[in-house]
Amino acid sequence: MRIRDFQETDCDALVAILRANLQYGDPESEGPEAMRRVSACPAALFLVAEEEGVPVGLLRGVYDGSKALIHIVSVRPDRQRQGIGSALVREAARRFRERGARSLAVTVPGDNLAFWKRLSFRLTTRIMVAHRIDEVIGG
Ligand SMILES: CC(C)(COP(=O)(O)OP(=O)(O)OC[C@H]1O[C@@H](n2cnc3c(N)ncnc32)[C@H](O)[C@@H]1OP(=O)(O)O)[C@@H](O)C(=O)NCCC(=O)NCCS
Repeated sequence: MRIRDFQETDCDALVAILRANLQYGDPESEGPEAMRRVSACPAALFLVAEEEGVPVGLLRGVYDGSKALIHIVSVRPDRQRQGIGSALVREAARRFRERGARSLAVTVPGDNLAFWKRLSFRLTTRIMVAHRIDEVIGG
């Protein structure tokens, strides 16, 4: 298994992983077009775990110059509990640290608090999200 940056050719395999993990509820934010935009965004980090050339996991996050944040981690169901998710988070932490980040948060820990706790994350405040940004602008 190796971890590398996202490539355009990963899109179909990554969509299949997100679908299998029920993390593909919003194709506009998670689909191939969004993946391409994320990979072109200098603040973003988009990592892929691959085995023999086949993507088996992904991580997306962002560093704003002060704080780092992981938005999503997803490992193909048949490859879970084999250290891939932890390796992705650790590599993200290394990359963000290199850019200057001192802390690292995750927006959606989901039902896997044990996974995050083992990686030194602690549950603090809940976050609030406006899923439709136009409604925020519109008041
Ligand atoms: C959560 C997820 C990313 C973990 O990836 P993974 O590769 O399976 O995790 P690891 O093998 O690195 O797990 C490391 C440790 O975390 C804990 N852990 C991982 N998944 C767990 C689960 N489902 N329940 C309880 N503990 C879990 C275990 O202590 C595990 O060590 P062990 O297998 O030796 O007991 C993966 O299960 C996944 O993709 N789930 C669906 C999507 C999701 O919920 N993503 C997180 C929110 S964005």
